[in-house]
Amino acid sequence: MGEGVLRVVELFPPTARFCPTMATSAFSRLPGFRDFAPEDFALRSHIFDAWRQTSRRYGFLEYDGPPLELLDLYVEKSGEEIVGQLYNFVDKGDRPVALRPEMTPSLARILGDRSRGMAKPIRWFSIPQLFRYERQQRGRLREHFQLNVDIVGEASVHADAEVVAVGIDALRALGLTSADFYARVSDRRLLSVVLGACGVDETRLPAAFAVVDKLERQPRDKSHERLMAEAGLDADAANGALDLFEAKGLAAVTQRFGHRDDVGPALEPLHEYVKALEAMGLGDYVEVDLGIVRGLAYYTGIVFELFDRKGELRAICGGGRYDRLLELVGGEPLPAVGFGMGDVVLGELLRDRGLVPEYKRDLDYYIVVVSEEQRPQALSIAHRLREGGARVAYSLGEQSVGKQMKAAQKEGAREVLVIGPDEVARGCVRSRDMTTGEERDIAVDAL
Ligand code: HAM
Repeated sequence: MGEGVLRVVELFPPTARFCPTMATSAFSRLPGFRDFAPEDFALRSHIFDAWRQTSRRYGFLEYDGPPLELLDLYVEKSGEEIVGQLYNFVDKGDRPVALRPEMTPSLARILGDRSRGMAKPIRWFSIPQLFRYERQQRGRLREHFQLNVDIVGEASVHADAEVVAVGIDALRALGLTSADFYARVSDRRLLSVVLGACGVDETRLPAAFAVVDKLERQPRDKSHERLMAEAGLDADAANGALDLFEAKGLAAVTQRFGHRDDVGPALEPLHEYVKALEAMGLGDYVEVDLGIVRGLAYYTGIVFELFDRKGELRAICGGGRYDRLLELVGGEPLPAVGFGMGDVVLGELLRDRGLVPEYKRDLDYYIVVVSEEQRPQALSIAHRLREGGARVAYSLGEQSVGKQMKAAQKEGAREVLVIGPDEVARGCVRSRDMTTGEERDIAVDAL
């Protein structure tokens, strides 16, 4: 084994082995996965901080689960698209398992075990890393972090409005406004009765949903053809349905079908939802759009997606009501609503809008020793300052004062504390403010 290691070392000189930007590296990163060097990690933390603070402002509690789950948790529950993208394998105990591609089935499983006896509604949030074997493209990678915000045990439309408000406010907390993004909202129950009113038979509803889901991504002719072939509509009915789904808002549906006993009441939840968001002052962020269906299989009511206004990026966030999932995984039958917001598209949007904070290294103090003899005093002062909560660094090897000063600047120190034989004799340090250049002596006891 020792020999093998030696051979690798010889084949790849140190710079080639450890420099991540060089294509000659022995181990390149897997496609669709990211490294987070401190500069990249700073943006990730900035996003996570906004997500956490906003979720907590709405009274949500943070939770997590394991990144690996039994494969069965996703099959049938998540829908074909995600199942086709699973990272799955058989583990050493012969269990078929998968890396989690989304958090909702794990949440349903976790609550299935413990929701009985818990006060309702349950308001939980999480920031899991998720894995999907997707075709890599702008806004889509093979791993991403996703804020998940869910309310479980509340059927009122006010839970739906509360959840989308968290999503909107999480983006506002990052500096984005209604000029940058908006929510497109629909309701699968309304969609079903409207499709029924257009002439789609109940058994063909899933096929019709699939066509509506693709409206934006395929030419109208193609959707028309599919509505006839797959959803069983005649040419006129297919045209009428397309007109309805292409019109934004509820006016067209209300005008055409609002008088019907099935469609009229199905319009109510969306009206209530929009009214609630208007009352919160978030009306500018919401648009009713019956073309939104959502790819996942478990949604049962209002669904929504957040998009950039310019329409340049993939969805930033998606979610909706899923009232049957908990029961499906063996838990208490509880209504639920929530969303997932990914960090990838969001990071792109923040970059496009110039909303990424400047990356700065910052230290409170850098301690410079004039000679190695003062190192014990430097270590003692550094440790006391650190115990007080300050960020402190110093050179770990022997270096000239000039080099130490340069290092202090590079590391973004606000203040340099110089300790030489003279300072030790007087029980003080020489402090230099790195912004103003001002220098003064500070007694060690006063630090
Ligand atoms: P989803 O629409 O599959 O929903 O994902 C939600 C968001 O995660 C997307 O809008 C997107 O921002 C991000 N996302 C998804 N896949 C990728 C990817 N391959 N690369 C980068 N970002 C991605 C769900 O996952 C639901 N479980 C959300 C939910 C929670 N519904 C109710 N509660």
